[in-house]
Amino acid sequence: MRRISVGDTIPDGTLSYADEAHQIVNVSLHSLAAGKQVILVGVPGAFTPGCSLKHVPGFIEKAEELKSKGKSEILVLSVNDPYVMKAWAKSYPENKHLKFFSDGSAAYIRSLGLELDGSDQGFGTRSERFALLLDDLKVKVAKVETGGQLKDSTAQDLLKAL
Ligand code: BEZ
Repeated sequence: MRRISVGDTIPDGTLSYADEAHQIVNVSLHSLAAGKQVILVGVPGAFTPGCSLKHVPGFIEKAEELKSKGKSEILVLSVNDPYVMKAWAKSYPENKHLKFFSDGSAAYIRSLGLELDGSDQGFGTRSERFALLLDDLKVKVAKVETGGQLKDSTAQDLLKAL
C-alpha cells in the first residue's frame, strides 16, 4: 500500500476506544475529522519510552498553541487495544486536549500504508511514527518517520510547518 502523503484524502476507517463503563466504542475517522482541521498522531506503541516520554508529551505541551491556530482535534493513534490506550491516556492527568484511539488490528494503519514491522522487538505489526495535519480530510502536512525514530514528527515540527 502506498504511503499516504500531502494532497491525499485520508481514507475512512474504524478506530476504537474504551468508555468509562469499559465498553468498546467504534468511531469512524471521517466522523472525527470531516469539516475540521485535525492533527492525527501515530505512534509505535503505548507506554514505549519514545512515545510516552517524548512524542506525546510534546503534543500535550503544545496543544493550546495548536488549538489557537484552529486545529480543533488532536488524535493519538496506536496499534494497541482500547484498554491499553485508555490506561495510557490516564497516565497523563495534565492532558486536556489529546484523544487516544486504538487501531488494535492495524487495519487502519495498513490503509494509510504506515505499518511498521516491530517483530524484531516482539511487537508484531505496529504504526510508523507520524503526525498528519488534516483539513476537512485532506492531508495538508505529513511528517512520517521510519523505523520508530523521532526526528521530525514532533509538535514543534508540526508548528513550524503551519
Ligand atoms: C519507543 O520508545 O518509542 C519505541 C520503542 C520500541 C519500538 C518502537 C518505538
